[in-house]
Amino acid sequence: MSGSGQKTVLVTGCSSGIGLKIAVQLAKDPQRQYQVIATMRDLGKKGPLEEAAGVCLGSTLTVAQLDICSDESVARCLSAVLQGRVDVVVNNAGLGQIGPIESLTIDDMRKVFETNFFGTVRVIKALLPDMKRRRCGHIVVISSVMGLQGVVFNDVYAASKFAIEGFCESLAVQLLKFNIFVSMVEPGPVNTEFEAKLMEEVSRSDFPGTDAETQSYFKDTYLPASREIFATIGQSPETVAKVTADIISMERPDFRRQTNPFYTPLTALKYADKTGNLSVRTFYNLLFRHGMLFHLSLGFLKCLTCSCFRGRISPT
Ligand SMILES: NC(=O)c1ccc[n+]([C@@H]2O[C@H](COP(=O)([O-])OP(=O)(O)OC[C@H]3O[C@@H](n4cnc5c(N)ncnc54)[C@H](OP(=O)(O)O)[C@@H]3O)[C@@H](O)[C@H]2O)c1
Repeated sequence: MSGSGQKTVLVTGCSSGIGLKIAVQLAKDPQRQYQVIATMRDLGKKGPLEEAAGVCLGSTLTVAQLDICSDESVARCLSAVLQGRVDVVVNNAGLGQIGPIESLTIDDMRKVFETNFFGTVRVIKALLPDMKRRRCGHIVVISSVMGLQGVVFNDVYAASKFAIEGFCESLAVQLLKFNIFVSMVEPGPVNTEFEAKLMEEVSRSDFPGTDAETQSYFKDTYLPASREIFATIGQSPETVAKVTADIISMERPDFRRQTNPFYTPLTALKYADKTGNLSVRTFYNLLFRHGMLFHLSLGFLKCLTCSCFRGRISPT
């Protein structure tokens, strides 16, 4: 803890989306429990964070440069931040990737792992010696429901999130010996720039090496379904930030927390059937065979999540 009894929280990837909201949510904590180091790889993008932080800027929130893919950047940032003394780290920085794997090069795929897996591991590895010495710390990772259940055409992204889940699940056991907690926050779709960046990348690709049938499944079936899912059950980054702040405030933090109750049944399918067929076939049927059922289910969810409906069923 810092001298004032506040916890120092370092958040990665705060230029936009979930990271920005988590940093601001913690910095605005009414009890001023946190001193937030909000980091980003390109300080030229700090405007929206500084604006959202308002009076907290320079008080409970400071901005620092950190590229999780660079050893040098991580070392420089940590030596500047209270000699590397961090009580809570929120590993949020991440990249998405969608598309038929035939159209992606191995280098494209490596970039996703360099960020989502090795970048996160790099930050954790740099912080561990001090946390172990002090016998306290909390490592939070913004994972994804795709770290638990793969999704068609998100093959490499899901693999990178599975990888970090396996890494953290293993590490968490050892770290309890040092009174260090690990928590995986697993959002479903969240309406940030993440989806827009993916769509932009896809719009620039002509899918080299991909047959026409696969391209058609991706463009005419997957993409419209994905847009519909984001529009229907997509959460706000503020909601994910609140869940993350809640976990950080726990004395003995949970290891795993999904943020979206509407997505939970889909991740539960694989545990309900040990052959694994139920989840694979359910996803297949919903996407390729019963498009109408998929559409109707989302329509039903849209009604449930609509504020006027919620208002009618909530007790006054
Ligand atoms: N949005 C979703 O549907 C969703 C769902 C589940 C999980 N997640 C996870 O949530 C996290 C945040 O995503 P988001 O939705 O908030 O997307 P976002 O708005 O695109 O934010 C991603 C952040 O990561 C940063 N970043 C990327 N590479 C970096 C690097 N090498 N070093 C430091 N920062 C880097 C980006 O910085 P630049 O601005 O410099 O690129 C940006 O600040 C990711 O880990 C993502 O996998 C998102």
